[in-house]
Amino acid sequence: MNHSGGESDHNRKLVQVTKDKNGIDLVVLRNPRGASATVSLHGGQVLSWKTDRGEELLFSSSKAVFSPPKPVRGGIPICFPQFGNRGTLEQHGFARNKTWVIDQNPPPLSADSNGKVCIDLLLKPSEDDMKIWPHSFEFRLKVCLTVDGRLILISRIRNINGKPFSFSFAFHTYLSISDISEVRLEGLETLDYLDNLCQKERFTEQGDSLTFESEVDRVYLDSCDMVAVLDHEKKQTFVIRKEGLPDVVVWNPWEKKSKSIVDFGDEEYKQMLCVDGAAVGNPITLKPGEEWTGRLELSIVPST
Ligand code: BG6
Repeated sequence: MNHSGGESDHNRKLVQVTKDKNGIDLVVLRNPRGASATVSLHGGQVLSWKTDRGEELLFSSSKAVFSPPKPVRGGIPICFPQFGNRGTLEQHGFARNKTWVIDQNPPPLSADSNGKVCIDLLLKPSEDDMKIWPHSFEFRLKVCLTVDGRLILISRIRNINGKPFSFSFAFHTYLSISDISEVRLEGLETLDYLDNLCQKERFTEQGDSLTFESEVDRVYLDSCDMVAVLDHEKKQTFVIRKEGLPDVVVWNPWEKKSKSIVDFGDEEYKQMLCVDGAAVGNPITLKPGEEWTGRLELSIVPST
């Protein structure tokens, strides 16, 4: 198989395709130091990202359901072509519910796969998708694990339609944290946000980094390209870098909402924080033949 991570036997051993118990293909990427990432062809969803010590960095619910068409509660589901309920499609669009294929021959990216282990996936609309969203597209997702354990996701969406179309997008990233009361989110200070808990009303964040004491469901608009989640108890910091993704969605369902989510444990809100690189405030419009690229890079660094 010609995986884009490279064609040597060495690299092929670092990309393995297995099946889960429901027969869904899973692609496991391993870097030479033993870090790993697992990507499901159901939804093109990253399900796991582990350090070279085997520590899981993404949250997955103990109640997660691994049978399609629903996405798994955790990892990094992809929201496309609609974010949330901001449109007529199903919540967060259909991409996360679809079966993706491995793209054997993706068009090259500049600064491509050097020193990384990568897999390329592809989603094209089915006839049924075209009935609910009548736009022809090619969605290429590249997932890479670097030698130093960073996880990189690159989405490329191309309009192969005769007419323009618009979409919103998010990498709905469930970070695994020690305790929601122990974390701080930096990089969103003073930004405007749309509050999903207040009919999407626009507010302005005050000067401090974010800490969490209750449910949060916000779209921070036009953030800088780096935000960080500091976990005091674990003494580690997630660094989230993004390109082409102007917004940051922050979500934690807290105690009451957690109880209403069937595939989520009552107390699990304490161990997760969703921080999504997203394009929600201003939908992306593509003319025929145009392509949009959104890139997310996650890394973990020790902190005090
Ligand atoms: C967040 C939304 O991104 O995703 C929330 O802002 C939503 O409103 C949450 O509840 C989870 O969505 P879902 O469809 O995966 O349960």
